[in-house]
Amino acid sequence: MQPFCSLNGKAALVTGAASGIGFACAAALYRAGASVLLTDIDGPAAEQAAASLIGGATAIGVVQDVADQAGWPRVVATALAELGGLDILVNNAGIYIGGALLGNSREQLRRLNEVNVESVFMGMQAAASAMQPGGDAGRGGSIINLSSVAGIVGVPGHSAYGATKGAVRLYSKHAAVEFARFGYGIRVNSVHPGVIDTPMGAQVFDDLVDIGMAEDRAGAEQILLGMIPQGRLGLAGEVANMVVFLAADESSYCTGQEFVVDGGASAA
Ligand SMILES: NC(=O)c1ccc[n+]([C@@H]2O[C@H](COP(=O)([O-])OP(=O)(O)OC[C@H]3O[C@@H](n4cnc5c(N)ncnc54)[C@H](O)[C@@H]3O)[C@@H](O)[C@H]2O)c1
Repeated sequence: MQPFCSLNGKAALVTGAASGIGFACAAALYRAGASVLLTDIDGPAAEQAAASLIGGATAIGVVQDVADQAGWPRVVATALAELGGLDILVNNAGIYIGGALLGNSREQLRRLNEVNVESVFMGMQAAASAMQPGGDAGRGGSIINLSSVAGIVGVPGHSAYGATKGAVRLYSKHAAVEFARFGYGIRVNSVHPGVIDTPMGAQVFDDLVDIGMAEDRAGAEQILLGMIPQGRLGLAGEVANMVVFLAADESSYCTGQEFVVDGGASAA
């Protein structure tokens, strides 16, 4: 497919890029002309994912646990050294822990917060330090944070996860306004997928059964698909298309905004 935006000469860092939405984003950014650093807690899978991207600019895969603070300066330094700069950060890595609110533990909430929210703070801080005028990259840039529809509306079994995704949504807006006012030339937006056909998406079906909303997997599918006006799950590539647009100069007047990719679910 012909890319609809050009990212020629731009350098991108995508977290959680070994599979699912993260890999789709890395591949779409790469196809649009960017060089890409793919990071994942599964290092060999990140390397393999990067090796599958051929015919374009540089693609490198390295291990990174996004919840580990020491890893952030290391991956930004790798981007600068291997890709020649840093223009795009996609804070994609995240985990899903479902369950009814009355059944969730504080430990679950803490773990979700660590991986889904603290990583976004550390990622924005590390990337913006490099992207800002006078920084080691110094060309401004675009930061895209993966939130969720569950960060905008309530969904049974999603309260702890949704709370962290709501934090990502507002964190993105605050960062966007601050970076624009400070003249950094860095845009920040959040992307809100509905149920996407990835390993994490599959967990949502099981969770509906676990909390007693559905009797079995087939029942869970019926309930979930019934909530989506387009009547199907989303594809990782459909989320990636939005990410490419937000990464590119074509979205130059968009910052601090939330972009929903959910087949109409949150509109119904
Ligand atoms: N799939 C959906 O239905 C859906 C819906 C809304 C939002 N999202 C969000 O989109 C993002 C990607 O979701 P996905 O469906 O592709 O998930 P996934 O579970 O299919 O893939 C996540 C990737 O992140 C990696 N990862 C997990 N923990 C990590 C860590 N601590 N450090 C680095 N990498 C780590 C995994 O190894 C994996 O490669 C997440 O932030 C998720 O919350 C997904």
